[in-house]
Amino acid sequence: MADKTSNKMWGGRFAAGPDAIMEAINASISFDKRMAAQDIAGSRAHAAMLGAQGVIETSDAETIREGLLTVLSEIEGGTFEFSTALEDIHMNVEARLKEVIGEPAGRLHTGRSRNDQVATDFKLWVRDQFDAAEGALLALIDALLAQAEAGADWVMPGFTHLQTAQPVTWGHHMMAYVEMFGRDLSRMRDARARMNESPLGAAALAGTSFPIDRDMTAQALGFDRPSANSLDAVSDRDFALEFLGAASICAMHLSRFAEELVIWSSAQFRFVTLSDRFSTGSSIMPQKKNPDAAELIRAKIGRIFGANVALMMVMKGLPLAYSKDMQEDKEQVFDAADNLMLALAAMEGMVRDMNANRSQLAAAAGSGFSTATDLADWLVRVLGLPFRDAHHITGALVAMAEAQGCDLPDLTLEQMQSVHASINDGVFTVLGVDNSVNSRTSYGGTAPAQVRIQITRWKEHMK
Ligand code: ARG
Repeated sequence: MADKTSNKMWGGRFAAGPDAIMEAINASISFDKRMAAQDIAGSRAHAAMLGAQGVIETSDAETIREGLLTVLSEIEGGTFEFSTALEDIHMNVEARLKEVIGEPAGRLHTGRSRNDQVATDFKLWVRDQFDAAEGALLALIDALLAQAEAGADWVMPGFTHLQTAQPVTWGHHMMAYVEMFGRDLSRMRDARARMNESPLGAAALAGTSFPIDRDMTAQALGFDRPSANSLDAVSDRDFALEFLGAASICAMHLSRFAEELVIWSSAQFRFVTLSDRFSTGSSIMPQKKNPDAAELIRAKIGRIFGANVALMMVMKGLPLAYSKDMQEDKEQVFDAADNLMLALAAMEGMVRDMNANRSQLAAAAGSGFSTATDLADWLVRVLGLPFRDAHHITGALVAMAEAQGCDLPDLTLEQMQSVHASINDGVFTVLGVDNSVNSRTSYGGTAPAQVRIQITRWKEHMK
């Protein structure tokens, strides 16, 4: 393969080959081989364009395009021998092309550079991740909608500070995540639309004197247009950062839901039963069923956000245009993308399979004085008290119930009247949790009727 004393691609200027350590720090082939298909697609588009523009013979262009397909099939078939001496995927492919088709291979790199080549390959790869994330988010949202629909009117405690706050519905809680993952979806779509400009033809940094047709290569690769500034095209990686940013926020959402599933599946809560398919056992404690998938999803934010910070640091302060620093962009993004897709798929599976424990949710919904706000609202609505006074009176009733070890509906009318004489037995109608959630009919509120409106809207939206 590579001539050790000098380099096939730039040997003209060099008398000696690289030190082994130089080769090790310089090479990216161990990871950028993941972009082989994108590299070959980009080169095939470039060759076709060079032929169409008369920059190279059309017969050479055809030979190159055919030869690249042979190389691709070798890579896909696992017979391709990757060489560290050839540094990266671009030079590995081109060197093998030379072996397969001979002299015309040397004409492929006319009017381009590895700088626009790598930007193009990486953009194509990241674009696929935006599309994969979109598919995975749609599937997760679909699973959440199914849960929400089944339990639109199941009551459960709503929390603030992880303390019982007010009763909500299971459907409402599921739909909260639909909103979050829906915004993640729209972030992925926004960023994908913004990044879809072709760097190919920016060449090393300044464009090229060859009469290339950048619209043609952009179109062939599914880009909306060629990028408008060659320096920018080869030197920014903001598209990858936008992916990592959107992925980080999405992973953060996943981690919150995962944490709730860990809590909810505990013996103390028993709000949900996770399926055996998404749980593990303990090697010593026979009773255990652990929510490992949820815990790992909860942890994935660490490496995904880490990748975001790492690439931000790599790019920070780099002068225009290309610097070799930018070779450090890929591993972070590859790892973040792999783990995001895994986390999304695992969450979808867990959500589809999990069973909400309806009676346990209902029992918990009524405990912890969850209808105290309803009681205060009743004092305002029926007795005409200012809300602040109502709040104070209700607080006293809660303290009384707490002292007696009972819940609010268990207090007698006489006990209530000892706190405020005008309270009448109408108050008991608002102390039930079903009543409480059914009354929360403000737009976006937890009333089952409102939840169903949102489920319908999302189902329309998903079509
Ligand atoms: N392996 C390089 C990378 O990933 C390709 C571009 C190299 N360009 C250069 N001028 N050395 O960034």
